[in-house]
Amino acid sequence: MTAIIEARELTRVYQMGEEQVHALRGVSFAVQKQEFIAIMGPSGSGKSTLLHIVGCLDRPTAGRLFIEQRDVQKASGDELAEIRNRKIGFVFQTFNLLAKATALENVELPLIYAGVRRRERRERAMAVLKRVGLADRMLHRPNELSGGQRQRVAIARALVTEPSFILADEPTGALDTKTGGQILDLFAELNSEGYTILLITHDPAVAARAKRVIQLLDGRIVSDTAESGVRA
Ligand SMILES: Nc1ncnc2c1ncn2[C@@H]1O[C@H](COP(=O)(O)OP(=O)(O)OP(=O)(O)O)[C@@H](O)[C@H]1O
Ligand SMILES: [Mg+2]
Repeated sequence: MTAIIEARELTRVYQMGEEQVHALRGVSFAVQKQEFIAIMGPSGSGKSTLLHIVGCLDRPTAGRLFIEQRDVQKASGDELAEIRNRKIGFVFQTFNLLAKATALENVELPLIYAGVRRRERRERAMAVLKRVGLADRMLHRPNELSGGQRQRVAIARALVTEPSFILADEPTGALDTKTGGQILDLFAELNSEGYTILLITHDPAVAARAKRVIQLLDGRIVSDTAESGVRA
C-alpha cells in the first residue's frame, strides 16, 4: 500500500529569543487511506505543532513530509497553499467560522478559493450541509447555531473540497460530552465512508473511537498502536 501521508524524522525547533524550544524531536509515521488516528499526549508534547506541519500550515525545521508521494519540502508557498486547499480538510476546536456569513456561505468559501463556479459551489455546499445533518440550518449564522451545529458546519466546510484527509485539533474540546459524542459519531461515519482522519485529543474516550492511537511525549512518539500490532 502507498501512504497518503508519510512523515520522516520531523523536527521543529521554535526560536524564542535566545532560547530554542524543541517541539518535535524526530517524528516518523505513515498514514494509509481510510485510517482513523487519534494523536494523544500531554499539553506541550507537540501535537498541534505536528498537525500544523502535516497540514502544510508550517514547515519542519528538519525531516521530510510526503503527501500522496509528493515531497512537501520541495513545494513553493503557492504550491503549499494549493495542497492545503485541495488535499486537506481542517477542523478546529473553536470552529473558526466567519461570524457574518451563513452556514452555506461558510461552506462555500473553500470552493471560491478553488475557483468553482457559483452554481456548482452552491450545490456542493448544500449537499455536504445535508450530509452533516444541517439541511434546515443553511441560512443561519454561527451565533444562531448551537456548538455542535457550528462544528458540523466546520466539518462540512472541511469536506466540501473532497480532501484526501481530514485534520482535527481537539474537535470536541469545546463541546459537552453528549454533543462531542455526536460529532465523534459523525467522524466515525465519515471514516467508514472512506475518509482518512487524524484527530488530536486529550480525552481517552475520544481516542477509544479511533482505530489507531499515536502517543506523543516531549516531541517524540512513545507509542503507536499500528506498530505494536494492537488496535485501539
Ligand atoms: N509559535 C511558537 N513559538 C514558540 N514555541 C512554541 C510555538 N508553538 C508551540 N510552541 C512550543 O512548542 C511545544 C509544543 O507545543 P504544541 O502547541 O505543539 O503542544 P500541544 O501538544 O498541542 O499542547 P496542547 O495540548 O496544550 O494544545 C510547547 O513547548 C510550546 O510551548
Ligand atoms: Mg495543541
